[in-house]
Amino acid sequence: MTVSDNRAALPMAGHTHGNRSPVTCHLRCADACFKPVPNQSTDETFHSIASRALSRRSAMTRAFVLSVAAATTLTPESAEAAGSNLPFNPIGATPDDVDAVRVPGGYRWQPVIKWGDPLFSGVPALSARGTTPAAQARQFGYNCDYLDIMPDKGSTTRGILVANHEYTNEDIMFPPGTDARFMARTALAAHGMSVVEISRSGAGAAWKPVRDGRRNRRITGTTPFTMSGPAAGSPLLRTAADPKGRRVHGTLNNCAGGTTPWGTILSGEENWNQYFLCAGTSEKEERYGLGPDGDERMWRSVDPRFDATRPGYRNEPNRFGWIVEVDPEDPASTPVKHTALGRIKHEAASVAIDKATGKVVVYTGDDERFEYLYKFISRRHYDDSGTAEAREHNKKLLNDGDLFVARFTGDGRQDGVCDGTGVWIPLTMGGKSMVPGMSLDEVLVYTRLAASKMKATPMDRPEDVQVSPMSGRVYMACTNNSKRGLPGEPGTDEANPRPENKDGHVVEITEMDGEHTSRRFTWLLFLICGDKDSAGTYFGGYTGPVSPIACPDNLAFDSRGNLWISTDGQPSAIGLDDALHCVETAGTYRGRVRQFLSVPAGAETCGPVIHDKDGSVFVAVQHPGEDGSWEAPQSHFPDYGKGVFKGPRPAVIQVTRA
Ligand code: FEO
Ligand code: CA
Ligand code: CA
Repeated sequence: MTVSDNRAALPMAGHTHGNRSPVTCHLRCADACFKPVPNQSTDETFHSIASRALSRRSAMTRAFVLSVAAATTLTPESAEAAGSNLPFNPIGATPDDVDAVRVPGGYRWQPVIKWGDPLFSGVPALSARGTTPAAQARQFGYNCDYLDIMPDKGSTTRGILVANHEYTNEDIMFPPGTDARFMARTALAAHGMSVVEISRSGAGAAWKPVRDGRRNRRITGTTPFTMSGPAAGSPLLRTAADPKGRRVHGTLNNCAGGTTPWGTILSGEENWNQYFLCAGTSEKEERYGLGPDGDERMWRSVDPRFDATRPGYRNEPNRFGWIVEVDPEDPASTPVKHTALGRIKHEAASVAIDKATGKVVVYTGDDERFEYLYKFISRRHYDDSGTAEAREHNKKLLNDGDLFVARFTGDGRQDGVCDGTGVWIPLTMGGKSMVPGMSLDEVLVYTRLAASKMKATPMDRPEDVQVSPMSGRVYMACTNNSKRGLPGEPGTDEANPRPENKDGHVVEITEMDGEHTSRRFTWLLFLICGDKDSAGTYFGGYTGPVSPIACPDNLAFDSRGNLWISTDGQPSAIGLDDALHCVETAGTYRGRVRQFLSVPAGAETCGPVIHDKDGSVFVAVQHPGEDGSWEAPQSHFPDYGKGVFKGPRPAVIQVTRA
């Protein structure tokens, strides 16, 4: 690629049809759905589970529904109250060509911040032609996914907003003919994260960004990070530019994340493989989707480290795929990549404090078909004293601990009692590898291979995981897996019960004895998504009317223990715009899915953040109009023709009481 190459010359530009993916699949995940499943491991445990499941498939649906309903009825519920601080009548289904945000009657929405909004004085806003590398590095980034809105302690009118910027869509960010290197430099700056101070007039009012806020910060694809944990300094992490293997530039493809009790932000590096040109000849590369057809954005034209076929850069891809931690209170701090939590395609990271031991537990899913669910348990204890020293102590907790992967078992449904059980299989313990034939740093850098060796259960794309603040139960969204059960692919099992699972499901996990550090758990299927009238759907035992739902992605709880589910993929699964749904997890209405909002054409719903006591719901509207082009936009959200820039702009929106 030369300087004179233009957008039209890039392999990703222009729509692709036939047996290939839509163009935006290149940009989102490097066509993962159109390539062989990376996990080709054979797993005796898994296959034996699957064959048992298949042998009783015909009897399963009815028995299963009855058994789950029975288990639900028999389970003593906590104080997880029915009801909500956000009463609403669910909106109707939104066809996938509607280019609007729809909210319930009595509510309204407004943008909080949009792609390209300057975070600092002297930084230009978006022009009619978009942005530039220098401006983008000081503007709100592209395609926001993880989101948190954190009022300052003791204040209802000041706070900070943190958002991840997962990936770029060059087809709608740049006019035709834009120089490829210009696009690469701009896109590197559009990735990463934003920290933005926000203010408002009072409780329940709309938040606005504060330009030049003390804590305002952009983290991009070139920001320095420190590697922490047992694999820091490993030869597997060393490159020509970093012979010590302890300092990395940038964070990439940050999908969802989590906020820690000590006020830092965790963020998952997800489909990071797509930025690298690799030989793709080893299992260690293939298992992560690294190969010669990556690198759609041609970033190696501006930064040699993205060509991992070059001597000195072969380990560069090993430096991505981590959980990163950012301290939003200190804009001068160096963010960290935590090797102790393993290297996968991290969707998110959800933190719980184990009541019995005070240890920190982090749940994290690996979003690829037939990949796994993990949890990390810190060696040291959380300090809740609230002092500055305690915070510094807590910021080091993820440096040191044990990593586990989940195996789901359960063959108890035939007798009408749902007793799915599971174990957390150790991959590392006490600073040692628990995986035969793999060293500690190999387990942490090639975590997928380690988990396969230990016979974890391949899931239908584990996305977000959230812990109920009321019951302590753990909820995992498995977004979809259209290859489940196809010839040559793993068949169904109890935890992934539907073949060609295009609509996804949600699993509910109860740690043994209510302790997050437990090595054993019980589980059941909470939702099997889809249109209610479709075969195989299940809504927590609730049999009344529910909103259609598909492809659950990000999860959040409100203060009353209701689970809010945002979706990514409803257009292709059920022909509806992506949505935010609210589901009761306990009581009479357990499993009742009600749709709160829908996002514009082409967008997925991210965040979400539920401040129900404040009467506010926030979502990140990611990739609006992603199937359009510069010349023919699919969406005009959020300016709808009123702005200088005419194309769609990813944005964070706030829904408030009208
Ligand atoms: Fe970026 Fe797993 O969604
Ligand atoms: Ca996601
Ligand atoms: Ca997603």
